[in-house]
Parts: sequence; structure tokens; C-alpha cells
Amino acid sequence: MTDVFKTIIEPFRIKMVEPLKITTKEERTDILQTANHNLFLIDAKDILIDLLTDSGTTAMSASQWGRMLNGDESYAGCKSFYAFKEEVQKLMNFKHVFPTHQGRAAERILFSIIINDEQKHIMNNNHFDTTRANIEQLSGNAVDLVIDEGKIPELEHPFKGNLDLDKVKQFIEEKGAENIPMCMITVTNNSGGGQPVSMENIREVSKICKENNITLFFDACRFAENAWFIKTRETGYQDTSVKEIVQEMFSYVDGCTMSAKKDALVNIGGFLAFNDDALAEQVKNIEILTEGYPTYGGLAGRDLEAMAQGLEEVISEDYLHYRISSTKYLGDALTKLDIPVMRPIGGHAVYIDAKKFLPHIPPHQFPAQALACELYLEGGIRSVEIGSLMFDNSEMELLRLAIPRRVYTQSHIDYVIEVLQKVKEKSSQIKGLTITKCPPYLRHFSAHLEQVK
Ligand code: F0G
Repeated sequence: MTDVFKTIIEPFRIKMVEPLKITTKEERTDILQTANHNLFLIDAKDILIDLLTDSGTTAMSASQWGRMLNGDESYAGCKSFYAFKEEVQKLMNFKHVFPTHQGRAAERILFSIIINDEQKHIMNNNHFDTTRANIEQLSGNAVDLVIDEGKIPELEHPFKGNLDLDKVKQFIEEKGAENIPMCMITVTNNSGGGQPVSMENIREVSKICKENNITLFFDACRFAENAWFIKTRETGYQDTSVKEIVQEMFSYVDGCTMSAKKDALVNIGGFLAFNDDALAEQVKNIEILTEGYPTYGGLAGRDLEAMAQGLEEVISEDYLHYRISSTKYLGDALTKLDIPVMRPIGGHAVYIDAKKFLPHIPPHQFPAQALACELYLEGGIRSVEIGSLMFDNSEMELLRLAIPRRVYTQSHIDYVIEVLQKVKEKSSQIKGLTITKCPPYLRHFSAHLEQVK
């Protein structure tokens, strides 16, 4: 098997390629200036290696493309919906499955039903940006209750995405269970470094929620990567298949929101799945109003086929072995270079601790964003800040290098490592940034910044 050799072998070969444009440093200096030091505002054609996100950037397989030709584009009751639903139910066993155009659509529909003036507190290990914004936009209160270990980047701990059970109990006592319509568990914990949640923690949180009559949902984007960490790190799961681990994970929750753009290996799509019949009636009505008829939910029939196939492929243990080891390959190489990264290395991304890497830049001058700009200037690499620009009062200043699934080879990653080594050599000269234009919410997507003089 592959693990007797050191080389990480991609369990696929490439039969279609997409050319990349190589820009000069002078060109990139102009491009960055025009984009007002916000990498979301740079056109993709001007990026060499795009590590902005692992979302929707997956290379689909020949089987996915093949199945897309069989997409049933009927408005109501299309065959592709039933194929998709069956695949979701094999893994997640929920009675109701509603496709949506992506994860945040599932979030918006769900929260618009469950949040009201009294029932407004949503617990989570860490809410991701759109999840938090969708809750706050409805005047809800999104609280993050991750374990303290999860907030210390250099600390080694196998499940830094775990919820702190004492904090959960205390929060319920403080606010009253009747005012908490939902607890979520984000697997893996994206804003907390792509760190996994253990089966034991899921089980314990589920117990607390049941005792208090609080609905428990997964934010399930990266469920397969989380399952792989359970298999390789949690006692008792080494001989359990990833499929069985996934099934057990989902047996403890009442439902999930899912961005299929991650672990369903597609470029667009999502879903909302759960058991509650009354909730299903409400979701169905909102879906028809805003997303589309519930058997397509804002997607084409062919997208449903691609998701169904992706859900089958993502639990392949050869794929997950390759996926998690190649992320670790980048993380370990940076650790060797003495570049401070969030430990242990997460599933979909390597997170550089910019607070430590650029100690001369204070949080209000956005050290991780400054580093993102430098990485682009030096090597045409795009990454994303997860720190004070993304979240007010952020406890960490992280720069995320997210790895698209099945897209880049080891030599692309070796280039990233080389560029970062160069950036490290001049790190003390990197300047902080200040905001010159700021939208009212989710500011990191469109804010303008300039270098502090
Ligand atoms: N929840 C988590 C944990 C996410 O990481 C994302 C998206 C969403 C929900 C929303 O899903 O994009 O399909 O609407 N994360 C992407 C990222 C954008 O770059 O991490 P979506």
C-alpha cells in the first residue's frame, strides 16, 4: 500500500489541464495596488497558485463529468434528485434532504425559521464567517465555545475543534435552554484552523443537547476529512471504515447544513438535511419561494449527479490518505523553516500564525492580511486572512493557505514553500495595513486597504 513509501502518491492521474499565467513582480505590484490590498479583488487570471479557498475549487473526476451528461433537468421530481438523496441518506441517514445552491443558502433558510426575538442564541465550536453573518443578520447571537486549546496555535492536541463541554453547560444555564434553538458543530472547525472534532466530543455534546431539548446540527462541509482524523487519531476507530465513522458521526445529530463545494467534491451546491417533519414543511415553503422547487433547490439536475458521485468518492480511504498527508506535507515543510503554523496541521489548509510571524505588526494593522499581500507580491500566490479583518475581536491572526482538492501537484506546493522561505527572509520589512473603505458586514470580501506609512 501507499504508506510503505514516503512519497505521497496522488490516487489519480491527470487527463485535462488548465494553463497558468506567470506574471512579473512589477505587474503584481500594480495589480495589488489596483486591488487595494484586498486579494478578493484580484482577477483569477492574475494568480499563479490560488490557495484562497478549498471551496468550489475541486477538480471533478471523469465519473462526475460522465454522470453530469445524465442529469435529469425536469423541474419537479427529477431522477437526479433521487440519486442524490439516496447518496446523502447512505451516509447521513436523514429523512429530509433539500438541495440548495450552496452552504450559506442552507444556513439562511434554516436560521430564518429557527431564530426569533426570544430564541436567538446559536452555539458552535466556531462559526464560520457566512454562518455568523447569517445569524447576526437576523439579530441572533452566534457564540463560539471551542476548547481553550483550540485558540493556541502552537499547542499540539488531536481534536482542537472540540466544544468545551463545561462552557456549553454554563451557557445553557446562563441563557436558558428555551432561548437556544440550536447548537452546531463545525466539522472540521474552519475558523479554528481546520481542526477536527472527536467522536467522543460529538457524543457528549449530543447528550447535553438531548437533556436540554436543544436541536443539534453539523455544519458538515468537511465531514469526510473529520472522519479521517477520527480514524487515525481517536482510540478505537483504527479498524472502522470511514463510511462507518461518518454514519456514526451523523447518528448523534438532528440534521446538518452542508456546503457541497468542499467534501462533496463539486464546484457548486449544498444541502440542508434533517429528520423533523414540521421543519421540513417550513423549509419546503421557503425553498420554493427563494431557491427553487425542492427537488432541484437552485441547482441543475447535472449538479445533483455530480454531488451524488462526489459523496461516493470523498470517503475513499486512498483519497483521504492523500488529501490529509499532502496538507501535512506543506505544514511540516513550513514548520521545518521555522515558520509558525497552527499545529497540528488541519485537513484542508495550513494556517500561518501571523501574530508570531510578524510580531512587529499589531492586530489592528492586520498582520495576516499584510502577509497575504506579500505572498502575492513575491510569488503570485493567493491566500486568505482569518483574523481581525474577517472577524472583529478575533483572538488569532491566521493566514490560511487552503488547498483545493485534487488540483495542485507536489511541485506546485514545493514552489509555495520556496516563496514562503523568501518571504520569511524579509519578514521584518513587511508593513501593516489600514482600512480605507469598509462595507457594513463581511467586510473582508470587499474592503479597501493601504499600507501604513
Ligand atoms: N460553513 C463553513 C465551515 C465554511 O467553511 C463555509 C464556506 C460555509 C459554511 C459556507 O458555504 O461557501 O457554500 O456558502 N467556506 C468557504 C471557505 C467559503 O473559503 O472556507 P458556502
